[in-house]
Amino acid sequence: MDRISIVGGQRLNGTIPISGAKNAALPLMIASLLTPERLTLKNVPNLADVNLLARILRNHGLDLTIDGKRANPSPHMGETFHLSARDIVDTTAPYELVARMRASFWVLGPILARCGRARVSLPGGCAIGTRPVDLHLMGMKALGADIDIDGGYVVAVAPKGGLRGARIIFPKVSVGATHNVLMAATLAKGETVIENAAREPEIGDVAECLVKMGATIEGIGTSTLRIQGTSRLEGAVHTVLPDRIETGTYAFAVAAAGGDVELSGARKSLLETALSALAQTGTSVAETKGGIRVTRNGGGIEPISIETQPFPGFPTDLQAQLMALMTRADGTSVIRETIFENRFMHVQELARLGADIQLHGDTATIKGVRQLRGAQVMATDLRASVSLVIAGLMAEGQTTINRVYHLDRGFERLEQKLSRCGANIERLVSA
Ligand code: EPZ
Repeated sequence: MDRISIVGGQRLNGTIPISGAKNAALPLMIASLLTPERLTLKNVPNLADVNLLARILRNHGLDLTIDGKRANPSPHMGETFHLSARDIVDTTAPYELVARMRASFWVLGPILARCGRARVSLPGGCAIGTRPVDLHLMGMKALGADIDIDGGYVVAVAPKGGLRGARIIFPKVSVGATHNVLMAATLAKGETVIENAAREPEIGDVAECLVKMGATIEGIGTSTLRIQGTSRLEGAVHTVLPDRIETGTYAFAVAAAGGDVELSGARKSLLETALSALAQTGTSVAETKGGIRVTRNGGGIEPISIETQPFPGFPTDLQAQLMALMTRADGTSVIRETIFENRFMHVQELARLGADIQLHGDTATIKGVRQLRGAQVMATDLRASVSLVIAGLMAEGQTTINRVYHLDRGFERLEQKLSRCGANIERLVSA
């Protein structure tokens, strides 16, 4: 298995191109199942999760061709995908594939809406928490589907004549359930109202794409989505929005290592809360013509306290990165994780580098230390592993990160992007 080696202490200077958002690209690819026509997605990041989802969708009959990055002149523009699901040849999403990536469960809504039935493996738990799917199922039932759990599979059958619009009030904010129900509702009969919908920008991006495909959706960007169903969606061309989590990750990395970096292609409005938290640590954050400029030249890191919240609050997907930065703050900071019950696996790995972190339930108290020292650490999930990269950039000596396949799921060309800005980072490829 590949590892990443970092020798800390180098400042970061230069430009980092921000890729298209993984968490928009995945549901956008899934949305292609809603139409027999061609959906073209531009700025798709080249990531392990995207490639795995492509395999899953091909299993359902999707025809996918990729133009490749070289067809695109802009440095932060990704690949162009042409997706055609003319016929859905298989309405089953098997355990072997769904278990490897939770977002693949979101095929349930589009396949059910288009084919009248779907059989999708339950995704099961994962490293960051139990992550049930009750809200997804509640939404499908409200649209009239009959749901049965059989042998670890959700078997969903639409009523005669197809799904029917409904009013759905989610008791809890869920990104995935909002995506799933939103996509299904576009092909349901009549009006669907989703209340307490997640407002993450990636949902807005998918909704904008669905509108291009012929859907009628009001309230995009708000917690109430109103969808008028239609019997058929068309093809469209859509550009994936920039990745706010990748943006935040590199912004925190610059704050940690010190330096001056422009995050080209980044959009500040997608992560105001995280960037204002970063500014409170003593890092300068400014919008530029081409993106965002992050600067920290000398000076200490001020401690800050936050709790994770659904958008527009501080994102859980940046919690581990902020914690890595706080390990070197001039004082004590407190981070409360309110979204996932077990998203603190990075704590014990950061401790290997000398971080002083106490965990009590959902709250971590981080006492800043004068120095971190390089060590062998293990990546446990996608965002936790990149927090170890940030810590490694600050640590004295060499840090080696094992199990970097987690990083490859969500960060495109990470070593290249950082080393071009002066980081001493390399991938140790296993034979
Ligand atoms: C999405 O996951 C993201 N994944 C996650 O990013 C992100 O951390 C999460 O939203 C929160 O922002 C993608 O977009 C592909 P949720 P999702 O449903 O949709 C509970 C990353 O690193 N819940 O909003 O699975 C759930 O257990 C990934 O890129 C229910 O109780 O998250 C959690 O506590 C990791 N019942 C909370 O809601 C349900 O039916 C929020 O989960 C569904 C969720």
